[in-house]
Amino acid sequence: MDGNGRWAQQKGRARTQGHLEGLSAAKRIVKAASLAGIRYLTLYVFSTENWKRTTEEVGFIMALVKKYLRGELAFYRENGIRIRHAGDAGGLPPDIAFELEAAMKETALFTGLQVILALNYGGRAEIARAVNRALAAGEKTVSEKTISACMDNSDVPDPDLIIRSAGEYRTSNFLLWEAAYAEYYVSPVLWPDWTENEFTEALAAYSRRERKYGSVT
Ligand code: FPP
Repeated sequence: MDGNGRWAQQKGRARTQGHLEGLSAAKRIVKAASLAGIRYLTLYVFSTENWKRTTEEVGFIMALVKKYLRGELAFYRENGIRIRHAGDAGGLPPDIAFELEAAMKETALFTGLQVILALNYGGRAEIARAVNRALAAGEKTVSEKTISACMDNSDVPDPDLIIRSAGEYRTSNFLLWEAAYAEYYVSPVLWPDWTENEFTEALAAYSRRERKYGSVT
């Protein structure tokens, strides 16, 4: 969800205001994904590297996450949306970990869109966690299948489409393992300006892609 800071800067506002608008955009896109019948949507909310930002900015984002988890519960219930987490929950502030756990429990049986919040998430860290889980389970060597089975959400299929906003062409440590055959879509639109139109355009672009998985047509 890139471009919150630039959006705020363009408007002469504090970076935090960009994140506030970013939260509104996230809500719009969750709604659009749910209506479009998407089964899984992972939002990259906070990376393992984002702790390097100022205490004020980190605190603001965490407060937004808390507000989002609590404030959207009625919406999840109405729409059967299930909340899940990817990342290191142990490294989250205790109150955020508590809210996340509560939202996951509350929505665990919902069968609509699954929204996976990547929070304190890093792709390399997730791979290391998976290998450690395999070792703890007594594996001596790991295979691709074992690593996949030990990822944070092993039942969630690999992503078909990874969308980047604000014109960024980087993987940014996002779903490194799972993205092996994902299609990437880059939009110049800053995240706070994302509406269901941008999302529909991304889906349309995806539908025109030919996926060969290393094979030939
Ligand atoms: C990246 O843009 C954005 C973030 C690190 C924070 C994303 C958080 C939210 C949108 C709010 C919480 C959302 C949910 C769903 C709980 P940037 O700040 O790096 O922007 P820039 O590249 O323009 O500086």
